[in-house]
Amino acid sequence: MAVTIAPQDLESKVASILQAAGSSPAEARTVASNLVLANLSGHDSHGVGMAPRYVDAVLEGGLKPNTAMSVTLDAGALVSVDGNQGYGQIVGEQAVQFGIRRAKEIGSCILALSRAHHLGRIGHFAEMAVAQGLVSLHFVNVLSRPVVAPWNGGDGRFGTNPCCIGVPLPGQPPFVLDFATSRVAQGKMRVAHNEGRRVDPGYLIDEEGRPTTDPGVVVVPQPKGGFGALMTFGEHKGYGLAVACELLGGALTGGGTYHRPPDNARTVYNGMLTILIDPAKLGTAGSFAQEAMAFVDWLRQSPPAPDSDGVQLAGEPERQARERRARDGIVIDATTWAEIEAAGKKVGA
Ligand SMILES: NC(=O)c1ccc[n+]([C@@H]2O[C@H](COP(=O)([O-])OP(=O)(O)OC[C@H]3O[C@@H](n4cnc5c(N)ncnc54)[C@H](O)[C@@H]3O)[C@@H](O)[C@H]2O)c1
Repeated sequence: MAVTIAPQDLESKVASILQAAGSSPAEARTVASNLVLANLSGHDSHGVGMAPRYVDAVLEGGLKPNTAMSVTLDAGALVSVDGNQGYGQIVGEQAVQFGIRRAKEIGSCILALSRAHHLGRIGHFAEMAVAQGLVSLHFVNVLSRPVVAPWNGGDGRFGTNPCCIGVPLPGQPPFVLDFATSRVAQGKMRVAHNEGRRVDPGYLIDEEGRPTTDPGVVVVPQPKGGFGALMTFGEHKGYGLAVACELLGGALTGGGTYHRPPDNARTVYNGMLTILIDPAKLGTAGSFAQEAMAFVDWLRQSPPAPDSDGVQLAGEPERQARERRARDGIVIDATTWAEIEAAGKKVGA
């Protein structure tokens, strides 16, 4: 049966499991709170359902608890950081905080982060930047199973490679566009499969490369022993952006790109190229504020399409979900809950 739980109770439960898996109490809290915030934001795919996978990755040796990032190049607006296989929620925050400080000092920072374990919801890093008045762009690759097929290809060749853009809006909540370049996040297929649901056509191909609506094709081994694949969003254009994320987040950061046969490793590494810009230092701050707000007002004047909620700005659905779920509690499906319980038992939590 699904479980409805208050955010703080969920955070404590997950933190106790991560601590039993070797993290310091502070690290376990930070990671658990990041995962719960993803659930609160409506992105269950990147929420506490990831904790069992993190525990497996620690036991496998590829995710190293209590590990900090190290700066490998510090050259003004160019900064390289090694995540040292630490929790992405830890080394990612450390790296982005470093980049934010630098961008505030000199106006911009290009930050290359390699070898971070799973960074979770990338919008979290954009939210850190916009809270400091900075614009931020993030291109991320995923070294895990190759779950996404290239446009016109018949099997998975790369990950769900997320892209994210944050823009602060004066006097208003920020624009935070944060999405996987697959039509849906892989984790959403796990949740759909756990809930026994089919998904819309156009999201998936099976292990023979044929269209399917069964999310299980990317979650459990298929009859021939392989997996199906997700399709990219936006046809050839989304595919192009996914490749850009691999080249920027993987090749340019030094973290590496995906080019090997799939294996069963539980680790998920992310490389992330982040570009931070301080509008106050670009010399266009006045017109930036005025023009951004004029455009947003103009957008909002569009009449709602029939049977729709009307025009929203990226970031709004997440903020609305946070309000709702903070009040009503977070629903965790039965399979995910059982997986969390099992992960706890594995490490004696
Ligand atoms: N770390 C990783 O390896 C990894 C990999 C893939 C995805 N992710 C994360 O998964 C999460 C979910 O990705 P997704 O592709 O499923 O997200 P999604 O398809 O739900 O799209 C989310 C984006 O679209 C915006 N949006 C949604 N509805 C809107 C509307 N009606 N009007 C305007 N904007 C709207 C949201 O504000 C958000 O910016 C993201 O946080 C992403 O960073 C992480």
